[in-house]
Amino acid sequence: MNCVDDFRLRFGNRELVPIMLGGMGVDISNAALALEVARLGGIGHISDAMVPTISDRRFKTRYVKEKLKLYKFNVENSDKSVVQFDLGQLAEATKMHVSRAMEAKRGEGMIFINCMEKLTMNGPRETLRVRLNSALDAGVDGITLSAGLHLGSFALMEAHPRFRDAKLGIIVSSLRALQLFLRKNAKLNRMPDYVVIEGPLAGGHLGFGADDWQKYDLHAIVAEILAYLQTEKLDIPVIPAGGIFTGTDAVSFLEKGSAAVQVATRFTITAECGLPDNVKQEYLKAQEADIEVNTISPTGYPMRMLKSSPAIGNGIKPNCEAYGYLLDGAGHCSYIDAYNREVLAHPDAKRLSVMDKTCLCTHMRNFDCWTCGHYTYRLKDTTRLLPDGNYQLLTAEHVFRDYQFSKDQRIALP
Ligand SMILES: Cc1cc2nc3c(=O)[nH]c(=O)nc-3n(C[C@H](O)[C@H](O)[C@H](O)COP(=O)(O)O)c2cc1C
Repeated sequence: MNCVDDFRLRFGNRELVPIMLGGMGVDISNAALALEVARLGGIGHISDAMVPTISDRRFKTRYVKEKLKLYKFNVENSDKSVVQFDLGQLAEATKMHVSRAMEAKRGEGMIFINCMEKLTMNGPRETLRVRLNSALDAGVDGITLSAGLHLGSFALMEAHPRFRDAKLGIIVSSLRALQLFLRKNAKLNRMPDYVVIEGPLAGGHLGFGADDWQKYDLHAIVAEILAYLQTEKLDIPVIPAGGIFTGTDAVSFLEKGSAAVQVATRFTITAECGLPDNVKQEYLKAQEADIEVNTISPTGYPMRMLKSSPAIGNGIKPNCEAYGYLLDGAGHCSYIDAYNREVLAHPDAKRLSVMDKTCLCTHMRNFDCWTCGHYTYRLKDTTRLLPDGNYQLLTAEHVFRDYQFSKDQRIALP
């Protein structure tokens, strides 16, 4: 019987353990967690979500304070079109975020960055161009393009000297999305180095409908894409993601031709993971019925989360002057509309409830939107219940090694 360690992911002449830690924003797959995965020979993703905000917390910069000071005059205005990111500061923050992680890298693995197109930052093209190119400047090993179709994103990096040497990959949830990407990028003569295929059981935003995700099956999507790549004679490594909970689950994909697997949920309860410890306990205690796929994210994509997330129903005032990561190119976010509607309906209320949308920037920053994978309710089976009623947290090394060596659906307890 095979285990994951019997397989290797080959990138040119490099060989890696075929385990990729998926990007988890905002700072959930932080540098500490990604670096452990790289040290053990896999690929760890840091996230590029809200980097200036993360930089303030981590490196004591003052990007958020300065932005708020600059745009304070606009706080009561529901038109946020004047609130722009300073591209020089964005580049500086991204370079610091990435280069600190790269400097700390040990071992044979790689550090990639997960880049979400849906963080439109009131200037989708220019802010994305800066984020991508600054990450390349700072020496990141690879970039995974996520949350969005990214049809023009490769072109934004075309002039960068590392465009053909850094690993560039995309996340898709269907053959159709992959075909569209390949068609749009044909003239660049630069194929993706890998394709992550994210199925309906993943955490974070989903590439399926909120009502029909149950109809899709990751194995079926992967088989369809592998067959297409074979017919087209395209040698692009395929990396399935979403609900791969054990080493045996991973092997079932590797045996059928996948090059690696991307996993995330199992690592959310590790000591290194960026979530606060009390939130890790919420994940550990969750039952299946405590998890839902809803449509409260202003990105327009369905998102899976714990029903007890403080973000759900919370009617906090939009704070786009300080954050504003989800403002579209015209300074618009669907949470602002939802919030203003409730203000009009309840002019005297001290606290508002907004059910249909959430202020994702504020709540992700504060770790109050508890996005999670479908199998979060199985996390309690991967560790021990302590006498004080809490669960024991794991090390990233423990979880990584369990994926790498376990057989027969076994999960090693700490
Ligand atoms: C807490 C959490 C946050 C996530 N955030 C992101 C993200 O910011 N960008 C992204 O592309 N995927 C995100 N994902 C998806 C993961 O990268 C990964 O593809 C998926 O969750 C793998 O499935 P698994 O969690 O069942 O192992 C997130 C997943 C989790 C659990």
